[in-house]
Amino acid sequence: MEVGPRAARHYDLFMNVVSLGYYPRLIRKIVDKMDIQPGQSILDLGSGTGRNDIFIAQKIGLEGSILGLDISKEMLNLARKRCRPYPNVEFKEQRIEMPLTYHEEFDSIFTSFVLHGFEDTQKIGIITNAYRALKPGGIFYILDYNEFDLEMLWFPLRWAFIHGECQLALEFLKLDLKEMLLSQGFTSFEQEFFLREHLRLLKAAK
Ligand SMILES: C[S@@+](CC[C@H](N)C(=O)[O-])C[C@H]1O[C@@H](n2cnc3c(N)ncnc32)[C@H](O)[C@@H]1O
Repeated sequence: MEVGPRAARHYDLFMNVVSLGYYPRLIRKIVDKMDIQPGQSILDLGSGTGRNDIFIAQKIGLEGSILGLDISKEMLNLARKRCRPYPNVEFKEQRIEMPLTYHEEFDSIFTSFVLHGFEDTQKIGIITNAYRALKPGGIFYILDYNEFDLEMLWFPLRWAFIHGECQLALEFLKLDLKEMLLSQGFTSFEQEFFLREHLRLLKAAK
């Protein structure tokens, strides 16, 4: 789902408010769970305001590199401003579901809270891009909603989810994402859960 300029400007604040201030700590914890080493090259699909990339940049050091792709000019501006102290972090305006030109260039690919906003055929496009862009043995990290029953969610949260998220996100809760990744060549899945298993960091190897 594309984000307008106003929503982009308030995205970080919105995430802080809905998580009662927990979001930055959560992201740091999640990035710590990723096996990212100094010197690695990382691709971030739908990089948003670049907040996650700061944490990743601290892990890869100056010998590594990050390329963030996003479609929103406002998000890209915010990300470039935020990551200015890191000369090895770069952002490009790029639609991530369309065929990308990268071939076996990245050690890891990360995408967070992006996949749920796409139609299934577009998700396949993104997964295919990730597979092609990863070096052999590289890891695709997907942070997004876990599969869960919305009916079981505490009423205020269910209300917020239904009114705050798009229809595609509701469908995503029922999607067998591992099956989709498997169909595009990924294997060796591992997963970590957060926020009472409502969020999942899924790791898939090429
Ligand atoms: C919910 S935000 C998540 C941002 C960031 N990954 C994070 O976790 O903070 C989704 C991001 O995906 C971007 N996006 C949406 N559709 C896109 C597309 N077709 N190609 C590239 N980026 C896209 C949006 O502009 C936005 O920055």
